[in-house]
Amino acid sequence: MQTVLPWSSPEDHEMDRRQFLKDSLATASMALLASRRITAASTLPNPVAAPPEETNAARFPKDFLWGMATASYQVEGAWNEDGKGESNWDRFTHTVGKIKGAATGDQACDSYHRYKEDIAILKRLNQKSHRFSIAWSRIQATGTGPANQKGLDHYKGLADALLEAGIRPFVTLYHWDLPQGLEDRGGWPNRDLAGYFADYAGILAKHLGDRIQVWAPFNMPWAFTYFGYGIGIHPPGKADYNLFLKAAHTVNLAQGEAFRAMKAASSRATVGSAYGMAPAYPKTDSEADRAATARYDAMNNYYFLHTAMRGEYPKAFVGETPYEAMGFKSGDDKIMRVPLDWIGFHYYTRRIISDAGGADAGGQGNFGTEIEVDQAGGRDRYTRFHAVMPTEGPLTDAGLEVWPRGIYDLVMKVTRDYKRPIIEITESGCSYLDTPYEKENDRVPDARRTAFFRTHLAELARAIADGAHVRAYHAWSLLDNFEWSDGYSQRYGLTYVDFRDQKRTVKDSGLWYGRAAAANRVDVE
Ligand code: FCB
Repeated sequence: MQTVLPWSSPEDHEMDRRQFLKDSLATASMALLASRRITAASTLPNPVAAPPEETNAARFPKDFLWGMATASYQVEGAWNEDGKGESNWDRFTHTVGKIKGAATGDQACDSYHRYKEDIAILKRLNQKSHRFSIAWSRIQATGTGPANQKGLDHYKGLADALLEAGIRPFVTLYHWDLPQGLEDRGGWPNRDLAGYFADYAGILAKHLGDRIQVWAPFNMPWAFTYFGYGIGIHPPGKADYNLFLKAAHTVNLAQGEAFRAMKAASSRATVGSAYGMAPAYPKTDSEADRAATARYDAMNNYYFLHTAMRGEYPKAFVGETPYEAMGFKSGDDKIMRVPLDWIGFHYYTRRIISDAGGADAGGQGNFGTEIEVDQAGGRDRYTRFHAVMPTEGPLTDAGLEVWPRGIYDLVMKVTRDYKRPIIEITESGCSYLDTPYEKENDRVPDARRTAFFRTHLAELARAIADGAHVRAYHAWSLLDNFEWSDGYSQRYGLTYVDFRDQKRTVKDSGLWYGRAAAANRVDVE
């Protein structure tokens, strides 16, 4: 069922998807000339409005960094080699009944052994930045104690190979794989983890800080705390909103502590973020829906950003912030406050928000990278909003709506709200299941993915033309890989991976992305 947006005409609701795609492609071959100045609008503009006409070939600034991203558990494999300890994801995937297809990351893309081959692909595709994550359990097997030299050596080798290829290494410290030893101590709801995380961050900055200067402490902190402790679809599989509140607070403290530990250990360290964000639009113009949208923004988009930038929780709750349930102690505001050097976030899709009120808001869940499970009467008693992913745009094979305009709105909102910070798009991408085609020499003709990147990058170029300071864009992902609860049933790669023999084939979209990177514009064939 389609969401009815009160401000759009009936024709909009009947919008032919092919027409949508055509329009999106038309936008993609263009970018903006007019350098409209940033306005101080407080809410996002109408998402179904026609894109502006004053467009031209979408060009990027000359030092713009084209990149691709991966994450340790999703690509590395070698789950128990060279002194690596067990992680929460090892434990979860080894538990029967948790993951589609009984998939595990035991081997994944085997990138632990094949990273040179992978970096050769990045180089061939003219990439200038590679975002990857470090597996904490390779550095400290159980999450505390001295560093494992073999683990450090592995990442030194990876960073060196990137630098040699002229590619900037961008490291996420934590992309969801927690040493199981720390889960056994209570996981993120245990506030001691903030200190352990800072120790780990300090080790990395000390040993790798000569090669790596761009660090993001956490990937999508809202997602792993909410999925893991709030609704239990990720490890450790707990479903208790109060545990989520505590876990999220520890992560906010950990972000602050890690920021300081890294700066102390490496004077060249710059520390930012890799948050998951979705532009949020109110379902109606009512006061209640607008307020609910502001709560969504605060909880799902800014809960870890505002705390860092301003040292206080954004207003995510109906009524008072539940400090006690979070385990908030006096002085925590000072620990959390670390003005980030740059702001990194992902964009996949958008949300339409309504107020869940006191009544049963209905049980539509969301899909994909940001699953939200509604309970009767609204999502939870604290935030009481109802978030829906609309389906006016075409859906990817993962069921996410393709809505290029969203990246523009999101970038402009962050630009306005945080006074034109340096922005890095840390992930953006789509799953389509195209495979190598024998009759065409085993190419992977994945035109829908090319269209996705073309249209999103055109919208990004438009945001830059309108004054946003965007430094980099990382496509998710370099490789098809282990997609969390979906196992290997989704393919986000610009490179196809045959998991039977680990053969890599750059998809047509990857080749296109490489040409676009070389040209520094998106109107390339
Ligand atoms: C993001 C995750 C990433 C990958 C993509 C599809 O939410 O950060 O690991 O799973 O979604």
